[in-house]
Amino acid sequence: MARIPEQFIDELISRSDIAELIDHRVPLQRAGSEFKACCPFHNEKSPSFYVSPAKQFYHCFGCGAHGTVISFLMNYDNMEFLDAVDVLAAQAGMQVPKDSRPDDKSREKQAALFEMVASANRWYQLQLKQHPDAPRAVEYLKARGLDGATAVEFGIGFAPDGWDNLINELGKDAQSLALLAEAGLVIKKDEGGYYDRFRGRVMFPIEDHRGKLVGFGGRVMGKGEPKYLNSPETPLFHKGSELYGLYKARREMGKLDESVVVEGYMDVVGLAQNGVRNSVATLGTATTPVHLQRLFRAAPGVVFCFDGDRAGRKAAWRAMQIALPFMEDGRQIKFLLMPDGEDPDSLIRQEGHQAFLSRLEEALSLDAFLFNSLTRELDLSQMDQRAKLASLARPLLQTLPPGNYKTMMYAHLSELVGVDQRQEQSTSSPAPEQAPELNPERATHAVAIQPISHHVRDSLRLLLQYPELVEVANEFELLTDADSWLELLDQLIGMINVNPRINTARLLERLRYNAQHSVLENLAAREFDLEEDKRQDHLRDLMSRIDLASLQTQVTTLLNSMTQRKTTDEERKKLNELNARVYKYKQL
Ligand code: UTP
Ligand code: MN
Repeated sequence: MARIPEQFIDELISRSDIAELIDHRVPLQRAGSEFKACCPFHNEKSPSFYVSPAKQFYHCFGCGAHGTVISFLMNYDNMEFLDAVDVLAAQAGMQVPKDSRPDDKSREKQAALFEMVASANRWYQLQLKQHPDAPRAVEYLKARGLDGATAVEFGIGFAPDGWDNLINELGKDAQSLALLAEAGLVIKKDEGGYYDRFRGRVMFPIEDHRGKLVGFGGRVMGKGEPKYLNSPETPLFHKGSELYGLYKARREMGKLDESVVVEGYMDVVGLAQNGVRNSVATLGTATTPVHLQRLFRAAPGVVFCFDGDRAGRKAAWRAMQIALPFMEDGRQIKFLLMPDGEDPDSLIRQEGHQAFLSRLEEALSLDAFLFNSLTRELDLSQMDQRAKLASLARPLLQTLPPGNYKTMMYAHLSELVGVDQRQEQSTSSPAPEQAPELNPERATHAVAIQPISHHVRDSLRLLLQYPELVEVANEFELLTDADSWLELLDQLIGMINVNPRINTARLLERLRYNAQHSVLENLAAREFDLEEDKRQDHLRDLMSRIDLASLQTQVTTLLNSMTQRKTTDEERKKLNELNARVYKYKQL
């Protein structure tokens, strides 16, 4: 795998002066042996951002931002990892080892793709000014209430009618045509040749989270299908991880401690024009965990705005399910359902800035949304309905991360149900390297529990370093429960599956905002000392042990609770299922 040797990075970091580099961008004050400043990654009045020259590390006690010189450049200057390495190497007078960068070719290619999308956008914007048909587009935008300044700010353009306008402009040779196709801007015909993807549409350019253009959404002017035509997934554009407007809105989100998630391009644009500048839109997909990671990195609060109709409620419910595991103490998730027939764009135009802010403020908290939705059709004076509430709510609450909020949610459920709803014991691993305590009563069931964290750690290492091993991982269906390491492993597997050609650096990049990122960095950096042909079997072995251990923990927990009260059919069924899976392993 293409990676810059660890020693090189080590050397690079030790030769760079982190305090000087940061001081250059964010003036630092001395504080003992360290330096401090107001954190550049969130809004604050008194300094909680510290730089330690000894550790060559920065850390913000306010928002938790931390990292090395490389991370700082990546986060503050929005650089890619390798670009940050290049900049630092140049400053330190070091030569980045060439042969460790066989990625160079694909980087060049990627740079060419970025350039192609940017050129297309410049051209679309120019057409909105000077194409003979431009007045039609301008009229359309005006009729929707958009002002010129906002149109310019969001880089809105116009793709004229016709099959080969963009091709004639940017696809003059075979190489650029191939790039246009890979960037999703033109489509290859079966009978040979290409045609423009976007025709007769108003163009909304899409920036990725680093502010680079990666794709477009094109809206028909008036009626027509599809209403919005979007760029397809390309090497640059991943709908599941990008959010429309995020790059522009991020500073504002930091200041306001809150982001607003809406459904449409025009919602983001319309809100911005009316002074609400912390909104983003998903790109015609459901909210994903990667989206939430990016949002919580920018601010501790997220408000989801959805239509008030059935589809909107369903989408809100799905977003909530995805969001529950992110609900650490100190974070806030709210839901704002729009009145019938309105979306944020239409609403803010009618009611104005202030009214919309009040709506945001009064949005339903996650707990209210969850319990309101579940109890809407239940009659809690009936015992069976209260039991039903418990069985619906528990699997949801289980996915909350450990903390006071989780405890309070269980307490609230207990209150509603009238019976103490204890939290399930998590299958989480004991502290690293520490053998789990065996309760003698449970020992018969909980045979041979391994220090699972060790296995999870090695699995993470293998998959991070050799993502192609994901096929082995796919043989298993992990019970992640409330164990954040298992969840991380599960997430990593998911990311590789979505993107089979992903490499280590890109995985780390994507997980950069994860709380466990620094551990992952270490795991990725240390070579795994195992011959290539042994890796698959080793991972299979590790994953089996993880699977078995969490199955056994679940069995134990279940048995434990079954001895404490009357057993339900559901529990018995679950136990049988779990035991069957354990039994399979025992046969191997
Ligand atoms: P909506 O259909 O709710 O439209 O789509 P909208 O955002 O209110 O659009 P306007 O105001 O009529 O212009 C919401 C979002 O779903 C995606 C787009 O991202 C859109 O902004 N979408 C919708 C598509 O990708 N394709 C479509 O054909 C329709
Ligand atoms: Mn709309």
